[in-house]
Amino acid sequence: MKKVGIIGVGEYLPHKVLTNADLEKLVDTSNEWIITRTGIKERRIASKDEATSDLAIKAAKEALACAKIKPEDIDLIIVATITPDMPFPSVASIVQNALGVKHAACFDISAACAGFVYALSIAHQFIARGAYRHALIVGAEKLSAITDWKDRNTCVLFGDGAGACVLGEVKSGGIISTHLGCDGSNLELLNLPAGGSRRPASKETVGEGLHYIKMQGNELFKIAVRTMTHAAETVLKQAGLTYRDVDLIIPHQANSRIIFAVAKRLGLTEDKIYLNIEKYGNMSSASTVTALVEAVKEGRVKKGDTVLLDCFGAGLVWGASIIKW
Ligand code: ACO
Repeated sequence: MKKVGIIGVGEYLPHKVLTNADLEKLVDTSNEWIITRTGIKERRIASKDEATSDLAIKAAKEALACAKIKPEDIDLIIVATITPDMPFPSVASIVQNALGVKHAACFDISAACAGFVYALSIAHQFIARGAYRHALIVGAEKLSAITDWKDRNTCVLFGDGAGACVLGEVKSGGIISTHLGCDGSNLELLNLPAGGSRRPASKETVGEGLHYIKMQGNELFKIAVRTMTHAAETVLKQAGLTYRDVDLIIPHQANSRIIFAVAKRLGLTEDKIYLNIEKYGNMSSASTVTALVEAVKEGRVKKGDTVLLDCFGAGLVWGASIIKW
């Protein structure tokens, strides 16, 4: 089996910034409530003309340039998203065409906030076994398109963005271990009820607001803390490591209180946590990858560091991965 690592990173965040003060004008909320309950100060919102693929393409181009490889060297494209441009074709197909990647296998995966770690794990298997040389994996979302801007329980939480990584063979380190999981018994805690085959779009579904994210936040909060702690412990055990070996945890950025609670349970001090939720809110599958990209760009991830990714989201799904940089 080949050693597989991240050889290039990129991101794209839409220019428009929506602050907590802007939200105070839309719903009955306050800057103070949002900051203390979530850690979010602002988020990015894509323009009307920008779809998820537009964000994904920009992040992907930066990742290819960073990896110093040409589009024709990419054999596999996976886009993790819950907000594809349309139900089909895949966002990955649109990215393939825009980049001029001629002979790649392309598909999307739906694993909500754990989507990036799922994509990482799938691409890892293909490259480690020698089926492909380079994979482009992207986490991209336009959550503003499925957010109910009249619902204060959800609209303060989400944002738009994209992050991308190029995976390839590395001489040392790389992806050490990954743990993925799902418990489908709590689907009603977080979903988008209509627009699929069970409840196709109709006047009624639109009228009832069923094309927007529905979430029971406080129930999810407890499950998120429990599950992310368990996922991190499992992947560390699998790798034969302990929390002492972790240089930086890069968690899914849903709520800073969830992140601090998980880190505390794992025994990780605050200097070992990477947070960018204050700038972007929760971008589902784009959150962990964008945090990873920014941690790398800021020099928070250095050669030889052990990085722990830890995610949880709708499904309910989870994924944790350890990468030696
Ligand atoms: N402004 C002011 N008050 C608000 C707001 C708001 N924006 N939103 C809710 N409130 C109120 C509620 O109405 C409630 O008032 P009440 O007591 O009078 O009924 C009160 O604040 C407390 O509400 P809770 O929902 O209990 O607040 P909580 O502290 O749990 O915070 C939050 C809510 C931020 C949503 C939190 O529960 C959370 O982060 N949950 C986890 C989300 C998550 O991890 N999702 C999975 C990943 S996302 C994905 O997969 C796409």
